[in-house]
Amino acid sequence: MTAKKTIKTLEQKKQVNDKITMLTAYDYPMAKVIDQVGIDLILVGDSLGMVVLGYEDTLKVTVEDMIHHTKAVARGAENSLVVADLPFMSYKVSNLAKAVESAGRLVKEGGAQAVKLEGGSELVAEIEAVIKAGIPVMGHLGLTPQAINQLGDYSVQGKDYRAAKKLIEDAKALEAAGVFAIVLECIPADLATEVSEQISVPTIGIGAGKGCDGQVLVTQDMLGIFSDFTPKFVRKYAELNQQMLAAIKGYKEDVEKGKFPAVEEGF
Ligand code: KIV
Repeated sequence: MTAKKTIKTLEQKKQVNDKITMLTAYDYPMAKVIDQVGIDLILVGDSLGMVVLGYEDTLKVTVEDMIHHTKAVARGAENSLVVADLPFMSYKVSNLAKAVESAGRLVKEGGAQAVKLEGGSELVAEIEAVIKAGIPVMGHLGLTPQAINQLGDYSVQGKDYRAAKKLIEDAKALEAAGVFAIVLECIPADLATEVSEQISVPTIGIGAGKGCDGQVLVTQDMLGIFSDFTPKFVRKYAELNQQMLAAIKGYKEDVEKGKFPAVEEGF
């Protein structure tokens, strides 16, 4: 039996230059498959809002939604470390107690081993308060989808000198605050490499090149289940949407033509 991964596992991997693997999951069967393969971390991302719940962004996702889906994932994750996203307005609200309470619920009720939040140095107090409560925190810099109304679109971040400098400063501030890893989303590969070299905690990239200490993708994207749009950085390892369409079409035809169920499929 493989041992449950911990934040120490990630620290060790960075030290010996072993790449870290992370994928998202929102339910029990997907978590089980990801866990069986030996992926290090399962992220119950608030991408849930878009790829599972059908919202146009992540802003409507609630702590209750996150707890509901984290519970299912935690039941399927024997070895992978489960990280749950703190959703919009559950921590960045000038109220440290609220941030700790939201994080605590994801761990205590949801069964996550850690939480992730989006933002830079402005969140140091929240991060320190959550860690003080005994909850490991993962940071998230670059494209932060919860800020979509400020960013205007989901484009590449950190492209000019000032933005790149700010991102490096934010990564250092998060490291000093005690995060155990940082997701770097949609930033130039050179910048992600520089951040990864300058901080001691692992970086996990999504659209951030191969210089990161690990990689993450939204599972619904890489399996080709979510078909509304596909970001440039996604590599599709399957086209399950096509297979689902063909399978459901086959079932419909069989029922309509009286071919399903067969005698041996009854009692
Ligand atoms: O919500 C999410 O799935 C994420 C990943 C894209 C890193 O934050």
